[in-house]
Amino acid sequence: MSQRKPLFPQLNWMLHGADYNPEQWIHMPEVWDEDVRLMHLAKCNVMTMGMFSWSSLEPKEGQFEFGWLDRIIDKLSRNGISFILGTPSGARPAWLARKYPEVLRVRPERVRNLYGTRHNHCYTSPVYREKVRTINTLLAERYRNHPGLLLWHISNEYNGECHCDLCQAAFRGWLRKKYGDDLDRLNYAWYTTFWSHNYTDWEEIESPSPIGEHMLHGLQLDWKRFVTDQSIDFMLQEIEPLKRLTPNIPVTTNFLGGCVINYERMAEHVDIISWDSYPYWHGKSPDWQTACHTAFTHDRYRSFKPGKPFLLMESTPSMANWQEVAKLKRPGMHALSSIQAVAHGSDSVQYFQWRKSRGSSEKFHGAVVDHSGHEHTRVFRDVAEIGDFLERLEPVTGTIVPAETALIYDTENKWAVEGAAGPRKPNLSYDQEVLRHYEPFWKQGIPVDIVSMDRPLDRYKLVVAPMLYMLKQGMAERLEAFVRSGGTLVLTYWSGIVDENDLCFLDGFPGPLRKLAGVWSEEIDALYPEDCNSLAMKEGGLDFMGTYSVSLLCDLIHAETAEVLAEYQEDFYQGYPALTLNRFRDGEVYYMAARTEPAFLDSFYRAMAARCRLSRALQADWSEGVNAQVRTDGVRDYIFLHNFTDQEQNILFKESIIDLDGTPVKQYLRLPAYGYRVFVRKESEYSSGVK
Ligand code: GAL
Repeated sequence: MSQRKPLFPQLNWMLHGADYNPEQWIHMPEVWDEDVRLMHLAKCNVMTMGMFSWSSLEPKEGQFEFGWLDRIIDKLSRNGISFILGTPSGARPAWLARKYPEVLRVRPERVRNLYGTRHNHCYTSPVYREKVRTINTLLAERYRNHPGLLLWHISNEYNGECHCDLCQAAFRGWLRKKYGDDLDRLNYAWYTTFWSHNYTDWEEIESPSPIGEHMLHGLQLDWKRFVTDQSIDFMLQEIEPLKRLTPNIPVTTNFLGGCVINYERMAEHVDIISWDSYPYWHGKSPDWQTACHTAFTHDRYRSFKPGKPFLLMESTPSMANWQEVAKLKRPGMHALSSIQAVAHGSDSVQYFQWRKSRGSSEKFHGAVVDHSGHEHTRVFRDVAEIGDFLERLEPVTGTIVPAETALIYDTENKWAVEGAAGPRKPNLSYDQEVLRHYEPFWKQGIPVDIVSMDRPLDRYKLVVAPMLYMLKQGMAERLEAFVRSGGTLVLTYWSGIVDENDLCFLDGFPGPLRKLAGVWSEEIDALYPEDCNSLAMKEGGLDFMGTYSVSLLCDLIHAETAEVLAEYQEDFYQGYPALTLNRFRDGEVYYMAARTEPAFLDSFYRAMAARCRLSRALQADWSEGVNAQVRTDGVRDYIFLHNFTDQEQNILFKESIIDLDGTPVKQYLRLPAYGYRVFVRKESEYSSGVK
């Protein structure tokens, strides 16, 4: 039976639309009519409004003007276009900041910002919270019964931090709660005897600052945790009136691609995940690599809500003006990158922005409708083509991505790795390392979930945990349970070093993972960027041989219960283990002692895929830059094939599949430069159930 679960029970189709700012055109009413005509031509069925409309909705304190919003919403609805309504907290009217300066953010240097830009608010300020609550309540009261209202879009790309006195007090309150009002516990957790930094009164504690305390890793971690919690608390205040007045309308908030807040925690409080994707296509990295890294973020955000699609809330139809070089998407790239999001689980393709603004800082940002104002542009045609194709993808709506592999990416671990002093500067590029382990799966077309340390692992066959530097409490036990019941785990160097407070484990690294990995890491060697060592695979280990270069960091490990699969070839630790395998009950644990070159990772994960019997999206041969992804409803599988190169590519199929219209696909296919296709596997590989 089909296991499709569309995000909106009343809709059975993909969303296609854009951020729309009709208030910018309020003095040109003919533009609104033209917009609706053009939306039809572009096959858009949804518009997102209101995120930056506060001063149009409340031009003076307490004086609200919803008339213009009523008119445009009705106009859209009459024309079959739904709307996603934004709450306007991301940017505020000047009167508000002037009258209540506490709403503006204070920087780590303890200087309050002037009015300006956006995302410049204190999320603790009671005044700001009250003002946001008032306008959100009015919006919910006004539009609660509107049939076109699909979704609440809370604020915009929550991010950043505030160091004002209100936030300092809230931080201290948060700490008191966390440490049970026991300052000794905090001093111990933060290791404050170092440099005589013991706190004797809660009032002595301040947030990290470049002009004050910024070396206490425990403080830094707790501050970041607090910023996340306080942002969530602010968001919950925003959501409260919406849920109270419109309990059946789901809420989302649009995530940024990279961020200092722990979005995974924030995700627990929204119904639908959405994010804004702005890759640097045709930039310094080859397009296939940009595609792979974009795929990682699609997978990461999708994994926040297992078994559910997500929404691509924003993307540019042509270029992003804030990028260093605002390169146009080459012909084909718009469709390819949009359908890539769908392949990874998105049930929408949405843009920033519908119409180019006439002035200010985003007037040159890509938009569906150009300053020329008509539909006869390359970009408009590209968008309309996507609109057409999304209609053909209706059966894909609500299907899921069946991943058997989990790659652990943990925001708190990232903070800890990047905040630590040593063993290398500038930092150890945790993000890069995780991406390097993701790439081989992407190249093979093997679906992957990206999860934090807090998530269940039992549904997976393979768990890859690069640089598990900070081991959260209970994680070693959970990994042990996973391996004990037959799972395969891959660990790397610089793992099991500190606990959640950034305190080092004392009984030999990788700390609580030592028994599981069967190795003891005695020292770690940092390499200069131009230096490398190498590892050589030993006979009789994995089913590939060879010598591969290693760089950055080399763990000097002793195999305790593990079998040695590869050894270092140079330096004083020549002959030390560089890759080990520990058989632990029914499962296997691999430990990669150094940062290895991509060719090694490709071979290694090919071997893992075979050993763990991981399904590929498609049985086929292709060259670098081609990618396959799969979504399934448990009856049929939908296979997405993409060519992220500027050359035509040949694909050799090793299984029988059909086209979307039911035509059997021949054994060979030529995929044009930046081309894509979607196929159907009539009998799902996942019919026995997708977890
Ligand atoms: C996003 C933002 C939009 C717009 C866009 C431009 O981050 O949410 O409002 O500014 O960037 O690329």
